Amino acid sequence: MAPKLIRWGILATGGIAETFTRDLLVDPTTRNVHEIKHTVVAAASSSSTSRAQEFLKSVNAPSSAVAYGSYEELVKNQDVDIVYVATPHSHHYQNVMLCLDAGKNVLCEKAFTVNAAQARKLIETAREKNLFLMEAVWTRYFPLSIYAREAITSGRLGTVTRVYSDNSSAQDPEKQWPDGKHRMINPDLAGGALLDMGIYSLTWVFQTLYTTQPPHSRKAPRVVSSVKKYLPTGVDEMTTMLLTFPRDADLGGDIHAIATTSFRTTNNVDGTGTAGPAVRIQGTEGELQVWPPIYRPTRTRLILKDGTTEDKSWPQPGPGAGSGWHNGFGGGNNAEGEGHGMFWEADEAALALVEGRKEGRFESLDESLVIMEVMDEVRRQNGLDYPEKIETTDRIPL
Ligand SMILES: NC(=O)c1ccc[n+]([C@@H]2O[C@H](COP(=O)([O-])OP(=O)(O)OC[C@H]3O[C@@H](n4cnc5c(N)ncnc54)[C@H](OP(=O)(O)O)[C@@H]3O)[C@@H](O)[C@H]2O)c1
Repeated sequence: MAPKLIRWGILATGGIAETFTRDLLVDPTTRNVHEIKHTVVAAASSSSTSRAQEFLKSVNAPSSAVAYGSYEELVKNQDVDIVYVATPHSHHYQNVMLCLDAGKNVLCEKAFTVNAAQARKLIETAREKNLFLMEAVWTRYFPLSIYAREAITSGRLGTVTRVYSDNSSAQDPEKQWPDGKHRMINPDLAGGALLDMGIYSLTWVFQTLYTTQPPHSRKAPRVVSSVKKYLPTGVDEMTTMLLTFPRDADLGGDIHAIATTSFRTTNNVDGTGTAGPAVRIQGTEGELQVWPPIYRPTRTRLILKDGTTEDKSWPQPGPGAGSGWHNGFGGGNNAEGEGHGMFWEADEAALALVEGRKEGRFESLDESLVIMEVMDEVRRQNGLDYPEKIETTDRIPL
């Protein structure tokens, strides 16, 4: 059967929009996906049409793709099947609502929203309108993540009782972002480690301890947390969460997880994982280790009680060496011809459209909501507030 063509609209033209769109345009057969193909029919910039034109050129989009100077124009385009929202998380609620109101399916970057109330409202709206909506937690759709979840559901690890998960970086915020305006540290853009990076620490905790359980037995965790603030702007620079997932006694009882994030201190100081794994999933029969960066991991080690050690590497597919094609993020380029890995989530969204599903398979909307509730609770415990204009569920211009 001929692959079904899914037509994307790209909302915003920043760093991740560029990485995502480059990956999107890689031929899916390079990763053995044959049911769908992707194309870009339009992109919009809130600053100008010329910025959107530049963006389309930089990602090598088809010459027929339309450039818009406002998000409002993009969502009116009848040729767009699904919109990828790539603004800062402060803006996700307003931008996704704009898309849903216009009847568009949406893939929205992480963190889904600023708070759980906003996420709940988006989910309700998507369901009312029978539209597809998914949080773009790309890592969940990697073959490596599928392998990790299967190590649990197959029983290879025995009963999983504890997970450690860290996503941190070694930035020098005073030097790198001295004016306080960068989205990583700017409260007006919902900056801070928790929402930007801690979401991945929580992703690994949730996809191993929550997603792997049958839906009827999944329960929200209790959380105790500590936050260190970045004094110049008041966002969090380091957050540590201790989570307890309730589980029935006959299934092994409560599970503990420690999820950490910091943008100043990392366990991956040389960027190559020399300091060891950043995720450790521990069961009664063994441990699965995942090397950093945990948002784009490429290396695992499974160690079992019976003496088995299984080392695996998970390079991202793509057009391949000799293709002259490159992708990467934040100034770092991957090897020639190697994808970044954002096409897996795009494939999932596209397949869902073809199959008539309204959610992604590896993170339900209910799970995105529970994770937002955990982050709300961490913020409540530590007095981490954002301006009302980005916490509100009212429809306002930002
Ligand atoms: N999945 C991943 O690996 C990954 C990596 C990095 C970031 N992200 C997520 O993607 C989102 C965007 O991050 P990014 O690194 O791409 O940020 P970025 O480079 O700053 O780009 C954000 C874009 O949003 C648009 N925008 C609209 N209103 C804005 C405002 N008031 N301030 C700043 N930008 C505004 C701008 O595009 P226009 O001017 O064209 O409208 C801007 O270029 C965040 O939610 C982040 O958490 C995900």
